[in-house]
Amino acid sequence: MGTPQRVLLAPWALLAVVALQLAGASHVIHWSLEAEAAPPPSVPASIVSPLLKTGYHFQPPRNWINDPNAPMYYKGWYHLFYQYNPKGAVWGNIVWAHSVSRDLINWIALEPAIYPSIPSDQFGCWSGSATLLPDGTPAITYTGISRSDINYQVQNVAFPKNASDPLLREWVKPAELNPIAVPEGGINATQFRDPTTAWYADGHWRMLVGGVRGGARGLAFVYRSRDFRRWRRARKPLHSAATGMWECPDFFPVSGAGLENGLDTSEAGPKYVLKNSLDLTRYDYYTVGSYDRRRDRYVPDDPAGDERRRRYDYGNFYASKTFYDPAKRRRVLLGWANESDSVPDDKAKGWAGIHAIPRKIWLDPSGKQLLQWPVEEVEKLRGKPVSVAGKVVKPGQHFEVTGLATYQVSTAVNSL
Ligand SMILES: *[C@@H]1O[C@H](CO)[C@@H](O)[C@H](O)[C@H]1NC(C)=O
Ligand SMILES: *[C@@H]1O[C@H](CO)[C@@H](O)[C@H](O)[C@H]1NC(C)=O
Ligand SMILES: *[C@@H]1O[C@H](CO)[C@@H](O)[C@H](O)[C@H]1NC(C)=O
Repeated sequence: MGTPQRVLLAPWALLAVVALQLAGASHVIHWSLEAEAAPPPSVPASIVSPLLKTGYHFQPPRNWINDPNAPMYYKGWYHLFYQYNPKGAVWGNIVWAHSVSRDLINWIALEPAIYPSIPSDQFGCWSGSATLLPDGTPAITYTGISRSDINYQVQNVAFPKNASDPLLREWVKPAELNPIAVPEGGINATQFRDPTTAWYADGHWRMLVGGVRGGARGLAFVYRSRDFRRWRRARKPLHSAATGMWECPDFFPVSGAGLENGLDTSEAGPKYVLKNSLDLTRYDYYTVGSYDRRRDRYVPDDPAGDERRRRYDYGNFYASKTFYDPAKRRRVLLGWANESDSVPDDKAKGWAGIHAIPRKIWLDPSGKQLLQWPVEEVEKLRGKPVSVAGKVVKPGQHFEVTGLATYQVSTAVNSL
């Protein structure tokens, strides 16, 4: 904004200050792909001002977004799909929008990748995940809504139309396979969703689907397959707890305590993390525990972990999902942040929802909880550094750092 930034410093004697101007992340927009016209001019500029949009976080040009879906790294590109309403800034008409990035920060919007087109997803394409098959081809598993009267949920699979296309623009849903799982055997059909990334062990693929039993016990159903085509539900869930419905389960191995490298979802880890999104309270929590591959059971290390509820984030952060990034051997966490505006305000703004900055996560040295840090690529947003060295500042004193022309600064203060 051209105004110099004032920095309030702690009362240390000698300091070095480095202030960095932050440039905005980009999201290249293909307007021709947007279904709706821009908000009408009657909406006051104070509401639709671009200054109110995030400069750095993931956000499409307009409309409603929620859960991140099927994040993956493929042929040099990061792919992010997400729950999207192409027709407005409220939840509804859900398709999978699709963006790609070289760095998890700057994104290019492509056309929606998964949208209603078969009987088992004709009333909505809800959340799901990507799994890389042994030949390197990705598969997407997702929840389809197959009835118009209730949100009747089944699970579907899709494969790239052309696996040589690094942008994975088109997906096919084989009619002979879909749906791959239906709510049989007493499963509540409106509470059966969000398949995870699958992992391979002892000749079988496994994936989880979130659900609830008896209205109160959240659980993760286990499905098994030899060929990723035909799936069968295991008799027992991976885990369950008296929390209400589990949405968007996420299950992955972690390296040993304090080790920052991530593991592919099919690698055996010394420890595992199970995350669930609680539909009742609208937050994500996780436990760290052990996984018995033979019995397909998960046991949290802390027997009260499901009640104590460690959270990834104590702000507005929901429906998160991780993926293993082979390019940097790290596990990356993505999540949706609901801006908590009212529906009329969202409609007036023309958008609702952003994604948090992707975070690398790993097990902390105690082995009891996860550590997380924004991916290092976020530092690309830093612009011109301005340093002030050897400045003596007295308790309570203010001083101005000049030479900055930016909306935001990131300040590092070192006591020398
Ligand atoms: C598949 O994608 C590759 C890479 O983009 C492209 O060269 C090729 O023409 C595509 N094949 C078809 C059948 O579209
Ligand atoms: C399924 O879950 C919904 C939402 O909790 C509930 O209203 C409905 O009664 C349940 N159906 C059955 C058959 O239990
Ligand atoms: C979103 O915002 C509304 C309104 O503030 C809130 O009730 C809801 O719990 C929020 N979170 C999610 C994950 O929907």
